[in-house]
Amino acid sequence: MFNRETYSTRRQQIRQKIGNGIVLILGNTDSPMNYTDNTFHFRQDSTFLYLFGLDFQNLAAVIDVDSGEEIIFGDDVSIDDIIWMGPQIPLKEKAEKVGVARTEPMKNLHPMIEKAISSGRKIHFLSPYRAEGKLQLQELLGISVSKLKDYSSIELIKALVDLRSVKEIQEIEEIRKACAVGYQMHVTAMKMAKAGVLEQTIAGTIEGIALSGGGMTSFPIILSQNGETLHNHDHSQTLQNGRLLLVDAGAEVRSHYASDFTRTIPVGGKFTSKQREIYEIVLAANNRGRELTKPGETYLSVHLAVAEVIASGLKALGLMKGDVKEAVKNGAHALFMPHGLGHMLGLDVHDMENLGENHVGYDNEIHRIDQFGTAYLRLGRRLKPGFVITNEPGIYFIPALIEKWKAEKINAGFINFDRLESYLDFGGIRLEDDILVTETGCEIIGNRIPVTPDEVEEVMR
Ligand code: GLY
Repeated sequence: MFNRETYSTRRQQIRQKIGNGIVLILGNTDSPMNYTDNTFHFRQDSTFLYLFGLDFQNLAAVIDVDSGEEIIFGDDVSIDDIIWMGPQIPLKEKAEKVGVARTEPMKNLHPMIEKAISSGRKIHFLSPYRAEGKLQLQELLGISVSKLKDYSSIELIKALVDLRSVKEIQEIEEIRKACAVGYQMHVTAMKMAKAGVLEQTIAGTIEGIALSGGGMTSFPIILSQNGETLHNHDHSQTLQNGRLLLVDAGAEVRSHYASDFTRTIPVGGKFTSKQREIYEIVLAANNRGRELTKPGETYLSVHLAVAEVIASGLKALGLMKGDVKEAVKNGAHALFMPHGLGHMLGLDVHDMENLGENHVGYDNEIHRIDQFGTAYLRLGRRLKPGFVITNEPGIYFIPALIEKWKAEKINAGFINFDRLESYLDFGGIRLEDDILVTETGCEIIGNRIPVTPDEVEEVMR
């Protein structure tokens, strides 16, 4: 937790940006896994953490924008709870640590919101992403679950995106810690990737490293020899020499700030020349992405420049053809990189995406491009110092997609489909770093995980 001034200042900034009404922020509750008392690991809502810092279940908070009053709602535990959970800090004491003087039992929240509604005051709330939050808001506001999104507060969303996009120095330090844990996860995976080892053994080991760092993984680990499946959570295969292993994994530290890295490594420790050729293109794309990332640049333009590096590399190998700029304009590169260059990173691995991906990644100036591939770019807008983002180009050979494009002659003028036949069992390569936009450019956060083919082979030896 940061100091109380941090949270008071953030709430004051929210009040200034919103102007009037009542801000209602729900914390998360426990979610049952298979029966009520057997719950998933508790994860507090990130907006609640950002504004109120308290990492406990069953809390809600209100900011009266007009009067400036702030209240945290929640219940102190009974002796029965203490028997099972141990002594608990009283809510009043917790609230003081984040600069909130007034606490109320949870039963007082509903009457307070009802009174505000009947006096015609605007209630600013966020559209919930969990079933429990949806039901709680339905009951509090009298808005049916299916309509909550329509009535959520654009003013609150915009104010939060404005604030949370630019990271404070203390937030960057937390991300740096998460990156250090991520570094250990990836170097460990490199050292373990030998023929005969199960993917699940490596996934379990690096998940353990995340837990040892004080938090958990920042998202379910992606670790597979079938790296062409972008979000492959199946870890059931045995590693075989000659195949590539794609590992996309990161950690959350105790404060919940996240890291998110991808490396792709040769099982057994040596890239084949065919693998190296594709790998070098992805690495050049990653380096180009970093070179171009600076304040004032849009991430959409960086994405498209990186797509040109990919298209020109594949053209040099004879897998693509024609004019590179035209190929990218027509979206031909997306056969090989059907995803965006990156996203924001912070308290969430895809930071703030519960507020709406377009609100976070786009604005009045930069709109999402509706073309296969680039449409998946989560962050397109103009970059500012203090943004923390991922830089994650990739090249994948997805048999089903190649077959479809070939059969439908999609972008046939830019793709040498016949040459692709020998790549159908190649898999995929993605290389992802976490970067901080600085005043003049950008920097990789923490030590860069070994990334050149020689560095990777060295670690694997
Ligand atoms: N690293 C997983 C993702 O960005 O979706």
